[in-house]
Amino acid sequence: MIEKMKTKIVCIETLDRTAEKNLNDLASLIKNGGTVVFPTETVYGLGADALNPQAIKKIFAAKGRPDDNPLIVHIADLNDVQRLVAEIPEKAKTLMKVFWPGPLTIIMEKAAVIPTEVTAGLNTVGVRFPDHPIAQAFIKTAGCPIAAPSANRSGRPSPTQGKHVLEDLDGRVDGIILSSDAELGLESTVIDMTIDPPVVLRPGDITLAELREVLGEVKVSTNVTENVIPEKVSSPGMKYTHYSPNGDLVVVKGTATEIREKIIKLLSNYKGKPMTIGVLASNETMADYQEGLIISLGSQSDPGEMAKNLFARLRTFDELGVEKIYAEDIPLNNETLALINRLYKAAGYTFI
Ligand code: TXA
Ligand code: MG
Repeated sequence: MIEKMKTKIVCIETLDRTAEKNLNDLASLIKNGGTVVFPTETVYGLGADALNPQAIKKIFAAKGRPDDNPLIVHIADLNDVQRLVAEIPEKAKTLMKVFWPGPLTIIMEKAAVIPTEVTAGLNTVGVRFPDHPIAQAFIKTAGCPIAAPSANRSGRPSPTQGKHVLEDLDGRVDGIILSSDAELGLESTVIDMTIDPPVVLRPGDITLAELREVLGEVKVSTNVTENVIPEKVSSPGMKYTHYSPNGDLVVVKGTATEIREKIIKLLSNYKGKPMTIGVLASNETMADYQEGLIISLGSQSDPGEMAKNLFARLRTFDELGVEKIYAEDIPLNNETLALINRLYKAAGYTFI
């Protein structure tokens, strides 16, 4: 339990004079060892000074995060990587050149300055240079690298809108910077560059095809679409329940026709029963269902839109008190891998 604290909340849309003053105020909270939520292009992050172990502990307390799950470190200047890692592999340099700033977290051997609290005892550290003007200005003003997991309570869907952050963390952190909704909506791609060929530990907006075009061979951790915990857990975050709505979420598999028929049948089973049932459908399919709370994830022709909406839609089901949610499966391809990974995890890999 942490004591309820007074959270300083500011709203920044553009970097004008007022914003500058607010950024200064919130950056000083970081300098003083506090915790501040800030927007990024993927999801909101819950930040603290990455070089201050006491500050890092506050992140774990605010989220209720298991302490063996490492944090990633955010920078806003390429020159800052050097002192955070033991060495920068050549291929990692290439990635930085091509994809930074952007939604890519690069795992490298850590330097001694990184406290073990950040890496949960691992000798590696994940570094990310976010592509978001407010995130960059905030990190620069704070004057230190900022460790930041997603700004949700542990196990909840990651926050893509200011109101999600307020729901989860108001009163549990020192400051919150509210801004526009996150542009991408799913967390960054995480790639382990301490081994060759490199391994994608978490898929994201930077796709496998894009990485392979630049790096050649790239492997994917087996548990990206399957419920397997590798013997040696290379990304500890992978073994925890994630992104879950309160309702019971099940993914419905099959061909498009099979999925539709299965869901219609499942919905009819609940007819007349006092239970709130929901369907996570698409723009193209939502009219197929006559009962239950039908919510669209977006258009099937726009995986980016679906990715941007997923976490917000899961929270909407919670707001509406939905107890059972059937989600249509999504065809797997290079563009949908990250979306499917989060959907399956949210469902705890339960399928019909
Ligand atoms: O887009 C993002 O990455 C967001 C924004 C705020 O930047 N951050 C984020 O952090 O998603 P978090 O902590 O929710 O997820 C980081 C993931 C976790 O699964 C963690 O286990 C893994 O990265 N990770 C962090 N450091 C690692 C390391 N040294 N080795 C392997 N995996 C690591
Ligand atoms: Mg997270």
